[in-house]
Amino acid sequence: MFQADLLANKIVCVTGGGSGLGLAMAKRFAELGARLVILGRTPERLAAGAHAITAAGNGREVTTLACDVRDYNAVAQAFEAIEQKLGAAPDILVNNAAGNFLAATEELSPGGFDAVMKIVMYGTFNCTQALGKRWIAAQRPGSILNIVTTYAWTGSAFVLPSACAKAGVLALTRSLAVEWATYGIRVNAIAPGPFPTEGAWKRLIPTKDLEEKARQRIPAGRFGEHHELANLAVFLVAGGAEFITGECVTIDGAEALAGAGQFSQFIHMDRAQLKGFLRMMKPGK
Ligand code: HXC
Ligand code: NAP
Repeated sequence: MFQADLLANKIVCVTGGGSGLGLAMAKRFAELGARLVILGRTPERLAAGAHAITAAGNGREVTTLACDVRDYNAVAQAFEAIEQKLGAAPDILVNNAAGNFLAATEELSPGGFDAVMKIVMYGTFNCTQALGKRWIAAQRPGSILNIVTTYAWTGSAFVLPSACAKAGVLALTRSLAVEWATYGIRVNAIAPGPFPTEGAWKRLIPTKDLEEKARQRIPAGRFGEHHELANLAVFLVAGGAEFITGECVTIDGAEALAGAGQFSQFIHMDRAQLKGFLRMMKPGK
């Protein structure tokens, strides 16, 4: 689909690049010649991810940094460390790290709301601003890709913190595309429908029955495949279509158009039974 050296000489930073869709995108960028930096909280996950990315990238070294994107100072230090190590700031940032879980909102603790908002909304702001400041000071262009979801527009029952945070990230995408266009910085987003990953499935689609119901919601009749999302990400961040900014591309087999809010279907279940089930999923129960 792309020239083999499309991303040669580019440094790409992917938050949450040690697992799931972040790893799939990082591998594809590496295949197309990019040098990769991946951020996440868990050193073991980053090490395993780096191993897979190096293999995809013909042995090119991958930089890993254990960093919680909720912590602005840690993020700022991470970008300083990257520049020291690689001799340049990343050219491309993918804000992919996220947190999410199912909960009835009236049972959600302030800490639960805080955790998801801080990872998704603040984490995206922290990485974007910390790197964007460097680009602007150095008078160089940059490209940012934010990973949202299709319920960023509609909201969705039972994932309220994620819905609020992803809507905020969509607003950030559009606002900053306008504000930073003058600096040659593009800001785009992708809204994926369901793509099987361990992180999403164990928290959101934990049984075969729910998985089948989720699949049945998708007019295309199947879940997304990781390479499909990775190719879309390459298209949006690579050179060749620089006039695209402030855009969010949905990739979901027409699921969102067929019915808003992936988890709103739970309103058809007995509420007391559902709440018992969600409580059982809470860690420590
Ligand atoms: C209710 C929960 C909960 C649950 C955690 N909490 N899990 N509340 N139900 N299932 C609450 C805790 O009680 C605590 O609040 C607060 O959240 C923080 O929990 P910790 O475990 O201490 O926090 P932390 O280690 O920071 O973990 C963050 C996390 C966790 C978001 C809660 O799930 C995580 O690390 N997620 C990262 C990966 C992830 O979520 N991937 C899926 C993305 S998929 P109190 O008040 O007790 O302190 C996605 C797809 C969308 O976004 C669309 C799919 C189709
Ligand atoms: P995942 O594998 O759980 O990915 C989340 C990644 O974020 C992990 O690598 C995790 O690593 C990292 N992360 C979480 N909290 C972090 C923090 N505070 N600081 C730094 N890194 C953190 O899930 P996924 O399914 O691939 O999701 C990737 C993205 O796609 C997310 O933005 C998600 O909302 C979006 N999305 C996914 C789907 C889907 O169906 N899979 C659908 C729509 C949107 P650590 O835990 O080690 O930090």
